[in-house]
Amino acid sequence: MMRKQIAAANWKMNLTLAQGEALLNDLFAIPTELGENQEAVLGIPFPYLTTVKDKLSGKQNIYIAAQNCYSKRSGAYTGEVSVEMLQSIGVDYVILGHSERREYFNESNSMLADKVNLCLEFGLKPIFCCGEALDIREAGTQNSYVETQLIESLFHLTPEQLTNFVIAYEPIWAIGTGKTASSEQAQEMHAHIRSVFAAKYGNAVADSISILYGGSVKAANAKEIFGQPDVDGGLVGGASLIAEEFAAIINSLKK
Ligand code: 13P
Repeated sequence: MMRKQIAAANWKMNLTLAQGEALLNDLFAIPTELGENQEAVLGIPFPYLTTVKDKLSGKQNIYIAAQNCYSKRSGAYTGEVSVEMLQSIGVDYVILGHSERREYFNESNSMLADKVNLCLEFGLKPIFCCGEALDIREAGTQNSYVETQLIESLFHLTPEQLTNFVIAYEPIWAIGTGKTASSEQAQEMHAHIRSVFAAKYGNAVADSISILYGGSVKAANAKEIFGQPDVDGGLVGGASLIAEEFAAIINSLKK
């Protein structure tokens, strides 16, 4: 079977509960088709996870994601949220290592390895983000930069743990800028990421990994980007806050 095609929303730190519920009511009122190998994932703020989870009951192939978790199991870490807590309320996915967390909260590749381990231990699926800043792209060293992110956070995992894993490639220069990577640039990096996994884990594992593109995805460009052979959907910020946009992005997934 073809690897999963995923349209993931990342609301980031936006919307009140009432606004979020209104957005979902609007989204669910629009016909979307999610086939057997397709999923929609809603990456929503911690306080709304339970409410949104309840709203999804009976819906097929729609899941919730937290946008972060803490790198320690439990204990005296005031204000943090553990993976076990997320598991206990039925969270399915956790977005890990978003560039905003790396930049503003100093998340390192090794801290992310700890977060990945906890997620896998508790049965939550990481959506592991990687991607280079503009200066690295301009220097032409983006491939080795992203490769290092993957090696330092993920290469301790077993082939079984990486089978059906989810990666999001988000070039920082394309996030919230309205400037997407071209579909050729996205395909080139996605193929590189897949080859990095293939070299270490073999083709079967590499081919099972869903690699999402993130960075100014919108209804108008989703079909072309998702149409690339190594692009398995998207991680969507701004456009996921508009029901019509995100519905059209869901409907742009490859069959
Ligand atoms: P935008 O879609 O707003 O560019 O954000 C992308 C992103 O960071 C998703 O995680």
